This record gives sequence, structure tokens and C-alpha cells, in this order.
Amino acid sequence: METVLGIESSCDETAAALVTGDRTILAQRIASQDDAHRPYGGIVPEIAARAHAERLAPLIEEVLAEADMALGDVDAIAATAGPGLIGGVMVGLVTAKALAMASDKPLIAINHLEGHALSPRLADPTLDFPYLLLLVSGGHCQLLLVEQVGRYRRLATTIDDALGEAFDKTAKMLGLGYPGGPAVERLAATGDADAVTLPRPLMGSAEPHFSFAGLKSAVLRAKQSGRHRDADIAAAFQQAAIDCVIDRTKRAIDVVDDVSALVVAGGVAANASVRSALEELAGAHGLRFVAPPLSLCTDNAAMIAWAGLERLATGQNDPLDFAARPRWPLDPDAEPVRGAGVKA
Ligand code: KG4
Ligand code: ZN
Repeated sequence: METVLGIESSCDETAAALVTGDRTILAQRIASQDDAHRPYGGIVPEIAARAHAERLAPLIEEVLAEADMALGDVDAIAATAGPGLIGGVMVGLVTAKALAMASDKPLIAINHLEGHALSPRLADPTLDFPYLLLLVSGGHCQLLLVEQVGRYRRLATTIDDALGEAFDKTAKMLGLGYPGGPAVERLAATGDADAVTLPRPLMGSAEPHFSFAGLKSAVLRAKQSGRHRDADIAAAFQQAAIDCVIDRTKRAIDVVDDVSALVVAGGVAANASVRSALEELAGAHGLRFVAPPLSLCTDNAAMIAWAGLERLATGQNDPLDFAARPRWPLDPDAEPVRGAGVKA
């Protein structure tokens, strides 16, 4: 049974994991940097890169020790090579290269988005290609047709903010601190979504793209008006965001045929209301709904190791001079979308 060491360092979690070809996570460690970034209300790239450089090697030692393995027992080393904050990506990729060189094992350079896209298959052995994937994280908001390992067709993206970003900014406006998604979800549970009227950008538009900038501005106006409880604003925001996600995903379901499952991945997939709305949508269209467990939704190294195993199984690995990529679209043929900026 093959075992891959996975390394993740593209954003603000430093993570290492050992995963086997039969989907067993032998060991995994995640060091969150939340405390380091909290005073700034968001991620500071320089602080993130330094923290990755300090934490990564010890985490790798810990997972090897926990699995009672030596580096020589590992079959390949997979690391996120982009997209993400370049300093952090370089720490992980260079570490992986050094380990690959020292152990004479193949290096597999993983697209972080591919890690998220394939993570549902780590959790669910019965999930076959093709499937419709809603990828919702802090930096990305896309609908993808996952055709096979390495073949992803982007059906839609955001023309401004990512969904997780909208959650984070709403949290900031409501003074909930960082990271914002889980805090907004908790506060929303105590609020009345109908007490505040908020817009649903792009709802009903023909192409399944997303937009959250207008919703974010409306949240700010609602807060500044002083007329609403924060809990009601949080609930109204979450409901508006979910309505948009469901409408857009429904549109994508209408344009793809022959998928058996609707799959959600990325950090926002940890949101229980988002998950249940998607589950209902899938059911209404006769599709299976697959969502990885929460620990595999937010950034982690098990999904990177798993993507490495999937690539290894198709005979792929990468040269030691593979360069880190701050931007790396999953679908290189996708047309740019007006206003899509850095999130495309
Ligand atoms: O996938 P991820 O860990 O990192 C990126 O690749 O971006 O996603 C992080 C994002 C953050 O924006 C965070 O606020 C959001 O996922 N998030 C949530 C929840 N948990 C994490 N958003 C809404 N509800 C949650 N429970
Ligand atoms: Zn991510």
C-alpha cells in the first residue's frame, strides 16, 4: 500500500499528513496561525511565511513519529505548489523538494484547488467522476465539473469576492474578529434573517457566476444605520449568501448533464446551513450530495497527500525545479470573467 506525505502551507495553516492509497489517514497535524494574524484582522503574508518556516519541519517529524515511519518508508512527497501566498507556498514546496531529494522519492506538486476538489473522494470511496463541485473557500468561489484527475472544467467563478471572504468581511464589520466564517455562523443562529433586507447579486442571471461585493456593501450600510441587531444582520447575510449559492448551483446543474453527485468542498463547506441547503438542492434534482467531514473542508494536508496519491496512481510526478505558482487556475481554458480580478 502506497503512502504519501502531504504538505500544505499556502495560506495560514501549516499542515503535514501521511495518507495511504486505501484512504487511511495515518497521521495528520495542523498548526493554525490564527493567533499570529488576529491583531491585524487578516492574514499578513510575511508573518505567515515565517510561521510556516518555523513550524513545518517539526510537524513533519511529528506525523512520521505518530505513524511510526521513517522518511524512507514514504512512497512520494506531495506539497501545495500554488495558488496562494507565495512565501508560504515556497516554504512548503522547497521543504518537499529537499525531502524528496534526501529520500530519493518522487515529488508531486499539487494545485491547492485540486486538493480541495479531490478531497471528497478521500472521504467517500464511492464517489466517481464526473461530479459537480462547488468550491467555496476564503480565496475561491467556483463551480467546476470534475471530469477526472487533472481535468477540471470551470463553469463559474466569482466576479468579485469569494464566499469565504464575504463571511470574513461581514465578521469584521460586525466586530467578530478573525477568522470570521464560524463566528458569523454562530451569531446567525441567534438572529432573524427576515429582520434585515439584503440584496442577492446575480440571482437569476443566465451564467452561474457569483458576486458578493454588493451584498457586503449592503451589510455595511445595515450595520452603519444602527437600526439592526448584529445577530439579525448576520442571519440576513448568511441567508442572502445561501440563496445566491443555491440559485447559482441550480443554474450549473441545469447546464451539466450526466453527473451523479453534487459535491461541496473548501472552508465554507464547514457551514451547516450552507451544507443543508445544498443537500436539499441535490435531493430535488435526484443527485447524491457529498460533503467531506469538516476537518477535510478547511485547509489541511491530508487532502494534499490524497491528491498526490491520485496523481501517483496515474503515473504522474514533477521535476525538482518545479516553480511555485502564486496563481494557478484549475481550468486553464476557462474564459476570463468581467471583474473577476485575482480571484479568477
Ligand atoms: O479552504 P479554507 O480553509 O482556506 C482557503 O483556501 O481559503 O477556507 C477558509 C474560509 C474562510 O473564509 C473562513 O471564514 C471560511 O472558509 N469558513 C466558513 C466557516 N468555516 C470556515 N465560512 C462560513 N461558515 C463556516 N462555518
Ligand atoms: Zn483552501
